[in-house]
Amino acid sequence: MLGGYERLKEEISKRSEIVERAIAELLPEKDPEGLYKATRHLLKAGGKRLRPVMSLIVAEALGKDYNKILPAAVAIETIHNFTLIHDDIMDRDELRRGVKTVHVLWGEPTAILAGDTLFAEAFYLLTLCDVEAKNLVRASRMLAEVCVKICEGQFLDMSFESREMVGEEEYIEMVTKKTSVLIAASCSMPAVLFGEKEEVINALWDFGISCGIGFQIHDDVLDLIGKDKTGKDWGSDLLEGKKTLIAIKAFRDGNIPEIFGKGKATPEEIEEAVNMLKEKGAIEYASLKAEEFVKKGKEKLGILPDSEAKRLLIEIADYLIKRDY
Ligand code: IPE
Ligand code: IPE
Ligand code: MG
Ligand code: MG
Ligand code: MG
Repeated sequence: MLGGYERLKEEISKRSEIVERAIAELLPEKDPEGLYKATRHLLKAGGKRLRPVMSLIVAEALGKDYNKILPAAVAIETIHNFTLIHDDIMDRDELRRGVKTVHVLWGEPTAILAGDTLFAEAFYLLTLCDVEAKNLVRASRMLAEVCVKICEGQFLDMSFESREMVGEEEYIEMVTKKTSVLIAASCSMPAVLFGEKEEVINALWDFGISCGIGFQIHDDVLDLIGKDKTGKDWGSDLLEGKKTLIAIKAFRDGNIPEIFGKGKATPEEIEEAVNMLKEKGAIEYASLKAEEFVKKGKEKLGILPDSEAKRLLIEIADYLIKRDY
């Protein structure tokens, strides 16, 4: 018998393999080669595929055939990859999923185009779902609204860098927009596509929003404590002066590290800053908040009938803030 955590990982990987095969089939390399190499680079480098996996599990929890909405799950992963390519330009990051970022390898103009290509391909993919046309229209509207919100969130994220103080409520608004809405769409779009009742659609949306906030807080924590594990640049948020919950707490307590917002630092200096934030309790403060949000999110799943898939969804919610990469 596999232990709880190992079993969860196996359940996730069973579904992520289905997603991988769909990605390979639905998003092939084409001409011009220079554009598509850049466009497929991150997709091919992997990633956890948590969003599309959650979509498949929601379909299962609704007692439906996930094959009918598999293109929508891939569409969400495609939007995610588009945002990552552009995010790495904005955050000046050079490493993602253990490989060099798209703009570092192909330059910013091609990276912008690679992101744009994925953005458009996602809406094309969505139309391939085997569901009623009226549900497809509503799902397209949801995806478009989500993309607008991500841009708003990413703008807030950047504009907070040059602000002295940012409140916790402002941080929550920013991460809800930049991160949670796409996770909320992963969870509620299957319900939209299958024409479920409003209260089910809304509960799954709220589940995704709350858990998505926890997910982003944990991502901010991993930026500090996930050295050599995340496949991303260590301490990037600190160097860029990102107003994470950890930074907000440190600011409030007068513990802001010297390298904050300085653009670069040695590994020793990053280490020192992380240790200070640990000792002063700023990291633990954020982790406790992440737990609160996930707890609140899981309560929304009361609306679903008991099933293996529902239990899995609850376990994934916990995993979002326990993962080490
Ligand atoms: C990273 O998301 C971007 C955020 C919203 C924090 P993931 O941690 O899901 O990245 P991949 O897809 O596994 O690489
Ligand atoms: C990611 O936030 C949000 C989006 C990509 C929309 P981060 O900037 O924290 O994500 P990572 O850490 O680079 O993956
Ligand atoms: Mg980033
Ligand atoms: Mg960013
Ligand atoms: Mg991050």
